[in-house]
Amino acid sequence: MYEGKAKILYEGSDPGTLIQYFKDDTTAFDAGKTAVLSGKGAVNNRISGFVMARLSAIGVQNHFIKRLNQREQLIRKVEIIPIEVVCRNIAAGSLSQRLNLPEGEWLPHPLVEFFLKDDKLHDPMVATEHITTFEWASSQEIDQIKVLTLRINDELGKVFEAVGITLVDFKVEFGRVWDGETSRIILADEISPDSCRLWDSATNKKLDKDRFRRNLGDVIESYTEVAQRLGV
Ligand code: TMP
Ligand code: ASP
Repeated sequence: MYEGKAKILYEGSDPGTLIQYFKDDTTAFDAGKTAVLSGKGAVNNRISGFVMARLSAIGVQNHFIKRLNQREQLIRKVEIIPIEVVCRNIAAGSLSQRLNLPEGEWLPHPLVEFFLKDDKLHDPMVATEHITTFEWASSQEIDQIKVLTLRINDELGKVFEAVGITLVDFKVEFGRVWDGETSRIILADEISPDSCRLWDSATNKKLDKDRFRRNLGDVIESYTEVAQRLGV
């Protein structure tokens, strides 16, 4: 059905379902830098399935149905909203660059930012006014997305804190599911070391995709460490 940079979507067996296949392909800087990291797809499949199941358990509806095998999971088909929603607890990455904030500084409270999902434009940051003006989502949907993102942040922060990992920031995507004329928003895509910044709480060692972006080495070893600590 669709091939992205890190995943492929196939039609699922039942209507309204898809199979999400996790590739080993790894990209950064809008695919300006690419590599194949053997085993990455399998480890992200496990971590994302585990995290999505935890979120379901606290009532954050999401597309994950079940893991099928090493690299594939069955998911609910959604109409993806073309916005990357970033939530930050600690300054890092593009926020540090944009506002000249030292990496590692805790923010006064969690900060939610929106970026347009468009590699050709390098995923530009957008305001909620852009989202409503261009009808990427309604203002009610944006309100729901903000509430959901902060709940996800609370739960993920606890899940990782319990295994000695600090959740610095993460990116999520949402989609619509339709029931006749009405739609509701659910969490989609993946939550993994590809889409989060995760630092060891004791040493601040990076355990996420910044190891690839910044040529720090041990990328797959760090992802595997996250999976092992979560017990998946
Ligand atoms: P940023 O600091 O580069 O804006 O990244 C914020 C968070 O979003 C970080 O956890 C990494 C994640 N992210 C993605 O998942 N995909 C992307 O394309 C980018 C740029 C960041
Ligand atoms: N989504 C970005 C890319 O593909 C990767 C990143 O920096 O996370 O190239």
